[in-house]
Amino acid sequence: MRSQRNGDHDGAAAGKLPAFSGSELNGMGASVSESEGSLTIVGTGIKAVGQVTLEAQSHIAHADKVLYLVADPLTVAWIMQLNSSAEDLYPLYQPGIDRLTTYYLMTDRILECLRQKRDVCGVFYGHPGVFAFPSHEAMLRARREGYRARMLPAVSAEDCLFADLGIDPGRAGCQSYEATDFLVHRRIIDPTCGLVLWQISVIGHVYPGMAGTAGISVLADTLIERYGASHQVFVYEAVPYPVCDPVIRRVKLTDLASTSLSQMSTLYVPPLAWPSFDAEVARKIGIPDEFVTKGAESASLYDPLVPQPSSVEAA
Ligand SMILES: C[S@@+](CC[C@H](N)C(=O)[O-])C[C@H]1O[C@@H](n2cnc3c(N)ncnc32)[C@H](O)[C@@H]1O
Repeated sequence: MRSQRNGDHDGAAAGKLPAFSGSELNGMGASVSESEGSLTIVGTGIKAVGQVTLEAQSHIAHADKVLYLVADPLTVAWIMQLNSSAEDLYPLYQPGIDRLTTYYLMTDRILECLRQKRDVCGVFYGHPGVFAFPSHEAMLRARREGYRARMLPAVSAEDCLFADLGIDPGRAGCQSYEATDFLVHRRIIDPTCGLVLWQISVIGHVYPGMAGTAGISVLADTLIERYGASHQVFVYEAVPYPVCDPVIRRVKLTDLASTSLSQMSTLYVPPLAWPSFDAEVARKIGIPDEFVTKGAESASLYDPLVPQPSSVEAA
């Protein structure tokens, strides 16, 4: 597939991609005309190229300007091939500049392109709105300045984790926190719920490249207080290349601090116990008495009253 820019819709004409209409491309807000430009934020998923939606692909291909922040070279090459205007936001990470300042620089660059009355596409890996500050900030600022802006959903690391570990968050429930936030705000853990912790390899890191390993030890100690040292957790890493299996390390909490981590590591802590059952509430909301009295003995596979261990918990 050769490179193309907006106005050069050869790819669509050749039947390669559906060309989304102007209103679809511009997204929300009907008061601003198409010529005034628009912002569409899309995600590329975690597995290189294979998890991109056709809708996201079309927006990348037809945008006047593409700005991207993705995690693997295959996706970079694919974006460049799709749209020769593509510009990498990664060089804005500079030694000595804190993360937040970098995110504002990225947002500024996106807005700068938008102000040139262009249809701009911001491309982020994973889901573009999950643990991604500049994407949300750019949307807010674009709308504040009167541009049409919207975000398309995509596959996040947590989606991959659910699939690879065999976890249905609808069974035990699931809490999900950024690891530093989890610690410094003393987030309240419900141990009857699954717990996903993001960015466990950069706990407490405000500046890029800042060393320091205390974070993971503090996290392990915090979790041990609540779950006990022998509780088993999963250090999870989806490999971005299609043929590779995910890296899943099952470790006791007591061994977490010495487990090797990468920038992509995410932690899953399975529930410690099942929640208690309140028969009074169950009756109040109309659950039939036969289920209420049988409680956890009921046999239905998807009965919400029956605890179902996920495949990793059962293993
Ligand atoms: C800045 S967030 C970006 C998340 C991304 N927007 C998403 O939708 O998944 C970076 C964190 O996402 C998680 N992550 C990113 N890539 C991952 C992967 N391949 N496998 C597991 N977790 C990953 C890690 O917790 C990492 O520290």
